Amino acid sequence: MPPLVGVARTGALPTGTSSCGPIPAHVAIIMDGNGRWAASRGLPRAAGHKAGAEAVTRCLRAARANGVDYLTLYAFSSENWRREPSEVADLTGLLKFYLRHKVSELHQEQVKIRFVGEVGRFGADLCAEMARAEALTAGNTGLTLLLALSYGGRSDIVQAAQALARAAQRGELDPGLIDETMVSRHLLTAGVPDPDVIVRTSGEHRLSNFLLWQSAYAELVFLETLWPDFDGDCFARVLDIYGRRERRFGARPA
Ligand code: FPP
Repeated sequence: MPPLVGVARTGALPTGTSSCGPIPAHVAIIMDGNGRWAASRGLPRAAGHKAGAEAVTRCLRAARANGVDYLTLYAFSSENWRREPSEVADLTGLLKFYLRHKVSELHQEQVKIRFVGEVGRFGADLCAEMARAEALTAGNTGLTLLLALSYGGRSDIVQAAQALARAAQRGELDPGLIDETMVSRHLLTAGVPDPDVIVRTSGEHRLSNFLLWQSAYAELVFLETLWPDFDGDCFARVLDIYGRRERRFGARPA
């Protein structure tokens, strides 16, 4: 790992906490590398996804410990439906397990859960469990966890455009008044600030249709780590990298 230039490290810190620098309000992660992690161990892909789900728990713990307000995890893209049915079933099964067995723990930790994506495609039962998890945790005041499931950035923009067009058709909206704020308010992530940092693990350097509108000014961080190996130290590294970036939002350097 290269030296952490410019980061003042002061003594021992709890694992996964950052010593200094601004903490991003919203961290979004493309969790990639489950398959390669499994293959490198001679295991089935399902084992990689199971280990990936355990990494989600570590990541969430680190996000809470560092005072992050929003954590968005790309758990299933709209393109992932093209995978082998058995792999889709494995991922759906994991989701079901976590919904049934982990939501009450998250609720106790004051985590607010929100699902973004075409969740109807997972079927009525799973959809109802997601709705229950959202309703149970809606009043919580801790970290907001957004799980992107059957999510695609382009279709998110399309559904926002359709909603605005329908409002205009009803005569409720002057198309000339549509601005960026209005579009943001019609995205699936409405009410959530844009991500400050988007992380992708496993050495791939792509957004893969994740939060396309919302990523306009996000800092991009690419880690070589395969997602199942992600832990609190990886999270601290993300914060260190983020803390050394100069964010100008298009303005001239000072
Ligand atoms: C990408 O790795 C990962 C996924 C498509 C799924 C991510 C899902 C999890 C981490 C489990 C989350 C579970 C819950 C309950 C939220 P890949 O399979 O594309 O890996 P590869 O590129 O190495 O093949």
